[in-house]
Amino acid sequence: MNKEHPDVDAVLFDKRDIESMVKRMGEQISRDYAGKDLVLIAVLRGAVVFMGDLMRQISVPLAIDFMAVSSYGDKAKSSGVVRIVKDLEMDIKDRDVLIVEDILDSGLTLKYLMKNLASRKPASLEVATFLWKDIDGKQAAVNPRYVGSHCPNAFVVGYGLDFAERYRNLPYVGILKSEVYA
Ligand code: PRP
Ligand code: MN
Ligand code: MG
Repeated sequence: MNKEHPDVDAVLFDKRDIESMVKRMGEQISRDYAGKDLVLIAVLRGAVVFMGDLMRQISVPLAIDFMAVSSYGDKAKSSGVVRIVKDLEMDIKDRDVLIVEDILDSGLTLKYLMKNLASRKPASLEVATFLWKDIDGKQAAVNPRYVGSHCPNAFVVGYGLDFAERYRNLPYVGILKSEVYA
């Protein structure tokens, strides 16, 4: 089995947990998007691992595209101002768009993306997030239609999620040891 990374305190979701979470989401999406014109939009970079797994658990026809966004200023006390670093290649007008994210934290990234993509007049617009962090009170109002799991308000890494660009390649989701970021 995996020997976990020395910077990881505890494993939150291991490979098998992730597999069943993603499979369940893929089944729900396949059911809901039968006969639709599905476009998955992954948010670079954190969502790439989840995107790769999720799309292979969806049995209906789909297209994929990518966006990259960045928050101005210090991420720790996010300004709420998000800008597009890389825009979509495709026109999503009248298509059924599903945003694919690794984690909903403050909600500012998804709030911005929902507003921005809605202005392009898709036929429908929903969110699939692998993790939904419990940070009661201060979260922007976003209602993801598909959620892998809620997760505690801790520094989670792996499965695409980074700390200072590291740990994205861990095949599980772990809680980072506090001494690593303190
Ligand atoms: C992370 C994560 C989400 C976002 C969630 O991305 O991948 O996209 O933050 O946080 P929020 O709900 O507070 O907006 P980040 O901006 O770190 O970029 P990355 O995907 O390249 O890691
Ligand atoms: Mn991200
Ligand atoms: Mg990040």
